[in-house]
Amino acid sequence: MIGIGLAFSGIILSWIIYQTSIAQPPSSEMPLPYHNVETGGYYHTKWWYEEVENQDLVTGDAVARLANDVALITGGNAGIGKGIAVELCKLGVGTVVITSRSLNRAKKTVTELVEDGICKKGQIQGMQVDLADLDSVHALANDFKSRFSKLNYFVENAGGVIIPGQYPGPHVNKEGFEALYAGNYLGHFLLLQLLLDLIESSHPARISLTSSIAHWGVTNNLTSLLPTKGWDARKSQGNGTLIGAVEQYCNTKFLQIAMAFELQQRLGGNSHITITPTAPGFINTNIPSGNREKTMPPINPLGRSPKHGAETTLHALFSKSIEGKTGYFLQPYWSPLHQNLPLGPLGLSVLLWEWLFQRITWGCFMWLPHPKTHDLSFQKQLWEESLKVVGLGPPSSSV
Ligand SMILES: NC(=O)c1ccc[n+]([C@@H]2O[C@H](COP(=O)([O-])OP(=O)(O)OC[C@H]3O[C@@H](n4cnc5c(N)ncnc54)[C@H](OP(=O)(O)O)[C@@H]3O)[C@@H](O)[C@H]2O)c1
Ligand SMILES: *[C@@H]1O[C@H](CO)[C@@H](O)[C@H](O)[C@H]1NC(C)=O
Ligand SMILES: *[C@@H]1O[C@H](CO)[C@@H](O)[C@H](O)[C@H]1NC(C)=O
Repeated sequence: MIGIGLAFSGIILSWIIYQTSIAQPPSSEMPLPYHNVETGGYYHTKWWYEEVENQDLVTGDAVARLANDVALITGGNAGIGKGIAVELCKLGVGTVVITSRSLNRAKKTVTELVEDGICKKGQIQGMQVDLADLDSVHALANDFKSRFSKLNYFVENAGGVIIPGQYPGPHVNKEGFEALYAGNYLGHFLLLQLLLDLIESSHPARISLTSSIAHWGVTNNLTSLLPTKGWDARKSQGNGTLIGAVEQYCNTKFLQIAMAFELQQRLGGNSHITITPTAPGFINTNIPSGNREKTMPPINPLGRSPKHGAETTLHALFSKSIEGKTGYFLQPYWSPLHQNLPLGPLGLSVLLWEWLFQRITWGCFMWLPHPKTHDLSFQKQLWEESLKVVGLGPPSSSV
């Protein structure tokens, strides 16, 4: 009885906090560079399909336009990525390419979606890439460019966490990078570099990155996340600890956002590419397994479906109101700005929050990520060092 009462008051209390803490949209354009917690500027908004000016997206001429568009979703064979592929097929995007580390798994999903009548034959295609393997990333980029002359929707979605003892390896890639650091961050960084000219020559052009609210659990020592510095190789190896793996997950999800913001800055106001990091919500997928050959039963009774998990990405790809916007993070539910909470080193309070409150606050939020994602000098250093380690940087000077 007392438990029910407490839970009930908890829900009422969070509802009140929720209602009173939604900031109004900024009246004028937020100044660059980027927002910060002090100036606010985060708000609840309509989903893309509720925006009046977007009503034509699913009717008439727009359908014909989407029919010529090309999308690439890394990790599109399972979980949230598959949920995104389903929605893009339904909307009529002409070509939807999904990747897996196994070409067979990608093809299996292609067959399934065609047989279920969700995607048309030829509309969805499977390709292979292991993002932790930089040669494999080069091969995908070359193959993609030889097959397609544009890329309108690039969804950097693949990723996961490596549970010690579950992941078959290799735990360290050829270049010496730990698998999770390479797979969740560095491989996506390289793929972005290799496809950027193709994206730039495409209209429309949108990039969405599936990050996570877990990025709030980032380490205090950002320097240790730079690819040429001390990122800890032992942390998430198959023989590491679970805590180490979760820490590394939080770190890589942080790096995705920092990378997105740096790209926004580098492209500046002259580019037509809109780049948006997102959180999908707490979604029931294979993510806890850490071993791609095994499927885990959903561990989260309050988790939502991959269809829900696709919503922020679709907003990033199609919303008119987010076009050209920088510095935002899309969340599918309200959350407090977590650094104000007593945040454990692993962001457990963040996860607990997401778990308990996402359903009652579900909606589209142009939200602020961790303030350190806006650290301009870190972003710049991360970008430059990443270019260097993937072999795309300027030749090192002999001085
Ligand atoms: N589920 C959640 O609650 C949640 C919450 C926040 C953020 N996310 C993020 O959402 C994204 C999708 O995860 P999910 O929940 O849908 O998990 P999932 O069902 O395990 O799907 C992960 C996808 O990523 C691919 N992948 C993983 N590591 C890869 C690598 N090194 N190279 C290439 N592809 C790789 C997998 O392909 P194969 O295994 O077939 O190779 C699979 O298609 C991830 O970035 C995750 O961090 C999920
Ligand atoms: C942060 O990490 C760097 C690189 O690993 C290390 O050299 C430095 O000592 C660390 N700083 C602190 C305060 O721990
Ligand atoms: C863990 O794995 C790495 C790379 O696979 C290896 O170099 C290291 O020795 C292993 N550590 C232990 C304690 O087994």
